[in-house]
Amino acid sequence: MSLKNITILVTGSSGFIGANVVKRIFKDYDGAVVIGLDNMNDYYDVALKKYRLAEIEEAQKNSSCTYKFFKADLADKGTINQIFEEYKPDIVVNLAAQAGVRYSIENPQAYIDSNIIGFYNILEASRHYPVEHLVYASSSSVYGGNKKVPFSVDDMVDNPVSLYAATKKSNELLAHAYSKLYNIPSTGLRFFTVYGPAGRPDMAYFGFTNKLVKGETIKIFNYGNCRRDFTYVDDIVEGVVRVMKKPPEKKNGEDGLPLPPYAVYNIGGGQPENLLDFVQILSEELVRAGVLPSDYDFEAHKELVPMQPGDVPVTYADASALERDFGFKPTIDLRTGLRHFAEWYKDFYMGESNK
Ligand SMILES: NC(=O)c1ccc[n+]([C@@H]2O[C@H](COP(=O)([O-])OP(=O)(O)OC[C@H]3O[C@@H](n4cnc5c(N)ncnc54)[C@H](O)[C@@H]3O)[C@@H](O)[C@H]2O)c1
Repeated sequence: MSLKNITILVTGSSGFIGANVVKRIFKDYDGAVVIGLDNMNDYYDVALKKYRLAEIEEAQKNSSCTYKFFKADLADKGTINQIFEEYKPDIVVNLAAQAGVRYSIENPQAYIDSNIIGFYNILEASRHYPVEHLVYASSSSVYGGNKKVPFSVDDMVDNPVSLYAATKKSNELLAHAYSKLYNIPSTGLRFFTVYGPAGRPDMAYFGFTNKLVKGETIKIFNYGNCRRDFTYVDDIVEGVVRVMKKPPEKKNGEDGLPLPPYAVYNIGGGQPENLLDFVQILSEELVRAGVLPSDYDFEAHKELVPMQPGDVPVTYADASALERDFGFKPTIDLRTGLRHFAEWYKDFYMGESNK
């Protein structure tokens, strides 16, 4: 597709992944009009969302792109339609969602509003103001308790173990129907445990750090017998921008009717890490960055506890389809990624401006 003077809508643009995608678009897409949309909700500390917004503003100054931000809710159909009508985006990257597996047990409504109604509004708008490519975030959680590893996009994913996972799987189904009915090219990306600087405080690496800094005890679930396929945010962003440029092809089937231009890919590191090893690396990097003192007694701040509802014992991406179709696979190892996180954390929470 032509990338000249393109208009790109990124929802969830003040979010962890969204903000990084916007900054990367400024670098890759000369002269693009970038529309950011986020409701700036307080699911976690809004200061982080404001920090990311400020980073976006700064990055925009050094680019040839135009940037416009809307503080708006995906569930507000009227506003979504207005934005599509006015800007007619060529590419939509839908990253806004209520994230988090555990919170979906506490506040299911937030998931239905943002992930189901909100996603439906994006699909409807993409139908009435046709887009060249709709890219949207799915999640590794759709694999539930899948026993077969690594997880492949060809595996059956009909057994979600959380409402969050069910909403993400529903997004894939809805996208398929809209791709088939209205010939809307769509690509779903199943992200695997994304981490990095200015990430999400509800995720283990960030939450553990906050607790350790306060001298509290961290809970390691399933007695540490969990493996997670961590993916550094820059690898996710690389995958997203490559995918954005290449929508699934529109073609007709043997019956002469359009085949749905629809695809789903995993984006994951493909190297699951045991939770205890992950905590070990994190603690070493926190000491190295000066977030924690070198004599910190980690053993005294660790508690091994049973599995929680909604959690899964392992996530492990088979990202070979992404590599085959886009010539890319994640490369950033856990220690390097956690090093960037620890250095950012030190600067953000303990830097000069906080003294
Ligand atoms: N981070 C991960 O490990 C991970 C893994 C799998 C999938 N995902 C998915 O990737 C996407 C981005 O995740 P993230 O980690 O950046 O999360 P995030 O919470 O940092 O970003 C999501 C953003 O969307 C916004 N938002 C939520 N509901 C909204 C609504 N109704 N209207 C407008 N804005 C709304 C939030 O304010 C937030 O800024 C999400 O769809 C998430 O489900 C993330």
